[in-house]
Amino acid sequence: MLGEVDLQAADVAAEAAASASATALATAWARDWGLGLPVTTAIVVMTRAGTSVRCLLFRSIYYTWAAFRARSIVATMKVRDMRKLVQLRPVSLNATERRLSSCFDIADLRRVAKRRIPRPVFDYVDGAADEEIAVKANEAAFRAWRFQPRALAGVGTLDTTTQVLGSALPVPLLLGPAGYTRMMHPDGEIGAARAALRHGVPYILSTMAATGIEELRGAVGGASPGSLWFQLYVTRDREQAHDLVKRAADNGYGTLVVTVDTVVAGNRVRDLRNGLTIPPSLTLGTVVQVGAKPGYWWRLLSGPALDYANFAGGPRTTIRQTAEFFDPDVTWADIEDVRSRWAGKLLIKGPLGPADARRAVELGVDGLLLSNHGGRQLDRAVAPADLIAPVREAVGPSLTLLVDSGIRHGADVAVALALGADAAVLGRAYLYGLMAGGTAGVDRALDLLTSQFRSTMQLLGVTSVAELRKRGRELITRAAS
Ligand SMILES: Cc1cc2nc3c(=O)[nH]c(=O)nc-3n(C[C@H](O)[C@H](O)[C@H](O)COP(=O)(O)O)c2cc1C
Repeated sequence: MLGEVDLQAADVAAEAAASASATALATAWARDWGLGLPVTTAIVVMTRAGTSVRCLLFRSIYYTWAAFRARSIVATMKVRDMRKLVQLRPVSLNATERRLSSCFDIADLRRVAKRRIPRPVFDYVDGAADEEIAVKANEAAFRAWRFQPRALAGVGTLDTTTQVLGSALPVPLLLGPAGYTRMMHPDGEIGAARAALRHGVPYILSTMAATGIEELRGAVGGASPGSLWFQLYVTRDREQAHDLVKRAADNGYGTLVVTVDTVVAGNRVRDLRNGLTIPPSLTLGTVVQVGAKPGYWWRLLSGPALDYANFAGGPRTTIRQTAEFFDPDVTWADIEDVRSRWAGKLLIKGPLGPADARRAVELGVDGLLLSNHGGRQLDRAVAPADLIAPVREAVGPSLTLLVDSGIRHGADVAVALALGADAAVLGRAYLYGLMAGGTAGVDRALDLLTSQFRSTMQLLGVTSVAELRKRGRELITRAAS
């Protein structure tokens, strides 16, 4: 009896023999029909080459044929006749503009970002902790809701404005904190903040930013305290944390967001595999990538040095070593301490359930940002979308409740509000835009999400954010599983 290995070997031999005889047959036909050397070569390549070479050859033949056909059609038509049939679209000479104008949703921005950015940097943004279960579940949790629209509601006049912590926003969106944003594009934190301000929505600067508290304030001098927020990690070195709080207050940041889900660093497997360092190290792998994505490296190397700007002079470090900043012994007493030092608005950011939410309120916080860090910390942490309703019930109608983790579409924002959130915070959604086209890419992400949110409201039959929040539970229903 033949064994498994013998069977496989027999298959391989049969395939090779079949391929060789097909080539011989095709070559003989080509010769018999006087098709000459080029066609014979093409046939040989077709029958022998790998799939990608075959595809390339097919495409070249198809395009050549299409070009000849088009030439003959054009030759028989008058230009005047053609102009009636086709509308000439102006083509932008600006490559970034051209690239961004072909992106029609956040998934398009992600695709462009992936094409343009070196793999370790793209993975740093796109990746999450461990098996990346939470990041996928976050998106799915928003998509698990279906809309039950109101018919004929007269939605010609639409009010998308809302209030967050006393500031009026034209749309219920904020740009969330992200470390090392300048590694994604030299426009970095400043570009993202400028895009946010242009859209009238707040920007939250990260403790781990590549632009310092003072530098960002200098770059966006006119920004009101309501539009510039600071995110704090209560670092192992408490003096350092207290210093950050003071600097944020001195520089007119109006709201402090304390992230509580990072008591130890998340286990980001993609970063570990890629050996990511901040700033990127020059290894053999990096040199190969310089060749593959020269535009990215040119932009990075011609800008100012990349660093943890809020801790000037910090050593080069791997992502794993950032663990030293974090303190597993942070407790509620630290929140009390921060509350006593910070006179502005205070929010807590994390995957807070109803009990933790109540405790935060008792300590005098002004709001909560329900988040699992985009699945980058505790993999399998509950999706924040599923926390909105129970937490809203626990804290009552007036506490500010924001949500992030998984917002990729204006419809996700509508679901978040219908469930009881006041606004949605963007993470990867704007970072993909930044990687795809710098500041203009963040603008594009905000434009797309705003327009999706507007049309979702109209198709849903609501005319204002206030109405969406009030009647939310009548307007959405869980998808049948
Ligand atoms: C590249 C990257 C860096 C981040 N850095 C921080 C940070 O420094 N501080 C923080 O509180 N959250 C940070 N986050 C989490 C975001 O603020 C936000 O919670 C998360 O991105 C939301 O998930 P989503 O991107 O899937 O929507 C980061 C997220 C990403 C993608």
